[in-house]
Amino acid sequence: LFTAIPMAPRDPILGITEAFHADTNPNKINLGVGVYYDDNGKVPLLKCVQEAEKRITAQGSPHTYLPIDGLPLYDNAVQKLVFGEDNIVLKEKRAATVQAIGGTGALKIGADFLKRFSPDSQVWISNPSWENHRALFEYAGFKVNTYPYYDPASHGVDFNGMIGTLKTLPARSVVILHACCHNPTGADLSDAQWDEVIEVVRDRKLIPFLDMAYQGFSEGIESDGQIVRRFSQRYSPVLVSNSFSKSFSLYGERVGAFSIVAGNADEASRTLSQLKRIIRTNYSNPPIYGAKIVATVLSTPELHQMWENELTGMRVRIHEMRHKLADELTARKYGEDFSFITRQNGMFSYSGLSAEQVERLKNEFSVYIVSTGRICVAALNSHNLNYVVDAIAKIL
Ligand code: LMR
Repeated sequence: LFTAIPMAPRDPILGITEAFHADTNPNKINLGVGVYYDDNGKVPLLKCVQEAEKRITAQGSPHTYLPIDGLPLYDNAVQKLVFGEDNIVLKEKRAATVQAIGGTGALKIGADFLKRFSPDSQVWISNPSWENHRALFEYAGFKVNTYPYYDPASHGVDFNGMIGTLKTLPARSVVILHACCHNPTGADLSDAQWDEVIEVVRDRKLIPFLDMAYQGFSEGIESDGQIVRRFSQRYSPVLVSNSFSKSFSLYGERVGAFSIVAGNADEASRTLSQLKRIIRTNYSNPPIYGAKIVATVLSTPELHQMWENELTGMRVRIHEMRHKLADELTARKYGEDFSFITRQNGMFSYSGLSAEQVERLKNEFSVYIVSTGRICVAALNSHNLNYVVDAIAKIL
């Protein structure tokens, strides 16, 4: 058996972190993985999280099993945050939400569910998309295709290409959409374009799967959640994966959720029973600690407010880094326009650097970015920015 097993390639994102750790250059910088660092290059421990941890510790709760679908207080809070408290979908009990092991775990629950109940569907992801989307759905047994998305000339969305392809898809095609802060490009649809997408999805009876890993990193929690809300009010089924890794800086706790909006309450409860089967046969039930932290923050008004303020702080710092990166690159490469960097949303900048240039950044400067040219702007700070800009300017 083992003699025939080939070596798997390194993961295109987490593999960069592995290579980064092995690099002995003291100036090395990891702009690969999507992690927010503060201006001192540290992963922040949010104050709202610390406060919630104090309260959880004071309660002295035992480390018991959670229900298969997760902590009820957490699932409830997630529904309110993701769908909006006054959403008719919640009043009609049409949403089923389960706690998941991060956003990736949520995607996998959704993928397994779809493979079981719509086995002949094919999956469509944006070109490009998050590196793990294709692999995850392929491993769940789907054929994965792409729809046009990014237009390198405008650094924006090739909307005609995208909508034109969606209009040709057979019913029940699964369409993976980034609800905000498109990963890797940072190019999002306008409200009017989203309306068109919703219309086409409805006309052709497609299965939309909204991936929302960066709620709060574009404009704010409310505004970034709008697309999920609009979709869920106008159509079903809608599948949603969301993550608190970035917005709570709780990467290692693996806190996410998967939700389905069904046509009525009965469908939702049958769906929930099937999601629980999927979870039970994979990992039995989810871990408790991160969910308790998020549930405590979201259900305590003063901690919730503290969280939104801290999230705003992260978002504002990323915006500042975008502007500095664009300005400094323009200053070093006279006449070239890098203002597109400031128009992208979320943690990343899709820089346009080629795979060879990315390789040179690594080999000559120990600056690590994803081979597609995706730079994690959230890992830039006032101390490393000049080094990075110098390196990029030299290889351009
Ligand atoms: C990323 O895109 O870098 C993050 O979502 C982390 C990951 O799991 O890939």
